[in-house]
Amino acid sequence: MAQELDSSKILYSSGNNDECYTPDYAVKPILQYIPKGVTVWCPFDTEASEFVRLISKQNKVISSHLDNGQDFLQWQPKEHWDIIVSNPPFSNKRKFFERALLFNKPFALIMTNTWLNDSTPKIIFKDKDLQLLMFDKRMEFNQSDGKVNNKITFSSSYYCWNFLPKQIIMDKLIKPPRQTVPPYQVSQDICNPLTELLY
Ligand SMILES: C[S@@+](CC[C@H](N)C(=O)[O-])C[C@H]1O[C@@H](n2cnc3c(N)ncnc32)[C@H](O)[C@@H]1O
Repeated sequence: MAQELDSSKILYSSGNNDECYTPDYAVKPILQYIPKGVTVWCPFDTEASEFVRLISKQNKVISSHLDNGQDFLQWQPKEHWDIIVSNPPFSNKRKFFERALLFNKPFALIMTNTWLNDSTPKIIFKDKDLQLLMFDKRMEFNQSDGKVNNKITFSSSYYCWNFLPKQIIMDKLIKPPRQTVPPYQVSQDICNPLTELLY
């Protein structure tokens, strides 16, 4: 018997890039634009997030996450909050940005630059000035297994509203050098049947 297709599941299903975590060097550039004394809501973040760890050093932070039953599309903190800063899922980004704009409060949300090729940002930001914090290098996100996805095919920016002092800011991303395995360790790790016989 043919199964009925649930169109909402197809349109709004999560993708492979949704469970990726922002490294500290990608959070640091936005810190200087967060006004003193404001409460920041990080709506896609658990306590383990670098957004929560770094922003809470300078501002009050409220974090929430789908895993805790706090769906950004339906839920908001009961406590007062002033601005949103985070990295939303790449799937269904239109829904997340539309919701962020509905609050009419400043936000800074990481998104791929390829999104600028779509009509959606032009439609939803038509009467709301989109601000961009752009970088000279690509952010490489951490995967849920703890490894860095260094084969990333796109660059990302902070898509902001009412957040930056001007519409487009070009900044440098100060990335730590890639961790490479020292040659000594490589040779030690290679299984050599000849030396194994000797010792
Ligand atoms: C791109 S990841 C970023 C995680 C974290 N903000 C960071 O940057 O390290 C997006 C996260 O949002 C969560 N998420 C997905 N849908 C959500 C929703 N409707 N409301 C809240 N969180 C959601 C995903 O499970 C995922 O952990």
